[in-house]
Amino acid sequence: MNSPIILALDTKELETAKSWIEATNESIGIYKIGLEFYLKFGADGLRRLADAGDFKIFLDLKLHDIPNTVSAAVSSVIDLAPKFLTIHASGGAAMIRAASDAAPNVSITAVTILTSLSDSDLVEIGYAKNSKSSAASLAKLASENGARSIVCSPFEASEIRAVVGDKLEIITPGVRPTGADLGDQKRVMTPKEAVTAGANYLVIGRPITDQAKISLTSMSETAASILDSLN
Ligand code: C5P
Repeated sequence: MNSPIILALDTKELETAKSWIEATNESIGIYKIGLEFYLKFGADGLRRLADAGDFKIFLDLKLHDIPNTVSAAVSSVIDLAPKFLTIHASGGAAMIRAASDAAPNVSITAVTILTSLSDSDLVEIGYAKNSKSSAASLAKLASENGARSIVCSPFEASEIRAVVGDKLEIITPGVRPTGADLGDQKRVMTPKEAVTAGANYLVIGRPITDQAKISLTSMSETAASILDSLN
């Protein structure tokens, strides 16, 4: 399934994750496994999802350590053959390079600036530039050191695209269909706006997964209608 939507499987229940894949697999071909799921079920949990459909994995482990440790950590998950594997770009050039070299067939995905951080948070940590400029610099660093994709806010996508060209795939969370509940996301774009801004893939969670509280059919329809909205 060739779809730009990546569904965030934010659940601690393996059977729930499976049912979400089954319900949406006609519109979605990539599922994001984050720390919540991975720290509970590990690699075995991921393998147990395999028969729920035909899909690829976005493994969102946000690795950040010395290059040698990150390289070894990447090697430890290589058997799972994720399509995307996240690291923090702020780990620096050598760390990004170590991750990329350890998994030449995986799209190493550099997280730029967490969208939960405000400009004043960045000053507090010691960043010299605001979030937009810092994200663009980190995207450039990632691109120069073998990362093939980055995660950023849709509001930073066009600026980053101008800096890195078409070399990197841009993945944006913070996406909400018109009228959807914002939840804890503050600044959002619609899926269509995010793609127009330069996103290649959209990470979407609750606007789709919350529909499972109504029914899996409703979840399936919502995923299909978001995909339709992109055409
Ligand atoms: O439910 P929602 O659509 O907000 O989910 C978005 C997903 O993207 C969650 O898994 C969240 O952790 C992740 N994410 C995010 N903002 C970031 C980075 C990741 O919302 N800056």
